[in-house]
Amino acid sequence: MTAAPAVLGANRIVPVVVIDGADRAPDLADALTAGGIRCAEITLRTPAGLDAIRATAGRSDFVVGAGTVLTTDQVDAAADAGAQFLVSPGLDDAVIARAAERGIPIVPGVATATEIQRALSHGIHHLKLFPAGLVGGLAAVRAFAGPFPDVKFLPSGGVSVDNAAEYLASPSVFAVSGSWMVPTAAISAGDFDTVRSLSAAATAAIDS
Ligand code: 3PG
Repeated sequence: MTAAPAVLGANRIVPVVVIDGADRAPDLADALTAGGIRCAEITLRTPAGLDAIRATAGRSDFVVGAGTVLTTDQVDAAADAGAQFLVSPGLDDAVIARAAERGIPIVPGVATATEIQRALSHGIHHLKLFPAGLVGGLAAVRAFAGPFPDVKFLPSGGVSVDNAAEYLASPSVFAVSGSWMVPTAAISAGDFDTVRSLSAAATAAIDS
């Protein structure tokens, strides 16, 4: 199966978006891009999620994926909407199998060694570490790197502008994700200057 970095390209910060109106999605993608972030995981936590993916899919300057993918039906719906990658908070065998059938990279969530082994049995080496802060943060990444040297993590949950660079300095981390640069209230209010400036700060933090 194709791995997530193949579609994420140079993007090492993946915004986790909860959006309540798909008509906001193009402006959101513009604001992220202006801040140097050319991707997003749009979660299926709201009814607008799928349409927001549809509204941003197909842009040559932006990679859109679906987040909080919990069921095989959601895999199909996200694939049909144009999602280029999928993220789940946990690991579900049927969801992974359907993603493979649809040819879309999926980043399942893991929090334990047992779940990592299960992901490896599917041939998936790129995993969301969730909730990263609560399971030990960078110390957990380092501990898992011992028995699992070929695994690359996407820490998520508690990642911020203050610790993103530290996570990304680990060779076991391929990208970080989080919601800090895409506050739902700002998106709802059409306040895309806030999204742009938080994104620019995030980009500067990992480039410095
Ligand atoms: C999520 O899936 O909600 C992400 O892990 C985002 O977590 P955060 O809101 O702590 O960035």
